[in-house]
Amino acid sequence: PSQLEALMSSHIETFPDFPEPGVLFRDITPLLRDPEAFRAIIGHWGAVLPKEIDLVVGVEARGFVLGAPLALSLGAGFVPARKAGKLPGSPRSISYDLEYGSAEIEIGVDSLPRGTRIVVVDDLLATGGTAAATIELVREFDVELLGVSFLLELEGLGGRDRLPAGVPVTALSTVPN
Ligand code: PRP
Ligand code: MG
Repeated sequence: PSQLEALMSSHIETFPDFPEPGVLFRDITPLLRDPEAFRAIIGHWGAVLPKEIDLVVGVEARGFVLGAPLALSLGAGFVPARKAGKLPGSPRSISYDLEYGSAEIEIGVDSLPRGTRIVVVDDLLATGGTAAATIELVREFDVELLGVSFLLELEGLGGRDRLPAGVPVTALSTVPN
């Protein structure tokens, strides 16, 4: 395997039947606690993203811990898409279904200025519910969505097919399920 694939497989642990039977949980905490691996992964990821990004939008919670260092490495700012009820003011919000349960996320009404070039990032593309909702939400702002990007794509769950056509989708690594 490539250096990247080796890093990914040694630093992301898989737990069957968590948090529910039938779900294969991917744990990225081994990656987060190894600074060399974390830095290397962020470097690889930044290299596959468009160059002209103003803001990286990361989805709470795992999209925060990856999106913030990614944004810094790109010289971009970071905007959190938060779980409902955490942002002051009158944020824009959207509800969506998850692989397990349902959720609502919000983005501050002034967080994505007009014309901003953004990418949406998250750790995993699974069923695509989270990413589809986040794309729909950022489209309520007058921004230029350059793409959506994931650390890991779980190909067998068909998430990519749930995302709107015309939005470039990239993943640093892909596994069958
Ligand atoms: C997980 C994961 C992705 C999403 C992927 O987040 O971090 O955001 O599910 O699943 P999907 O493609 O089926 O939507 P989760 O909502 O479990 O919470 P967390 O990031 O706060 O841990
Ligand atoms: Mg998440």
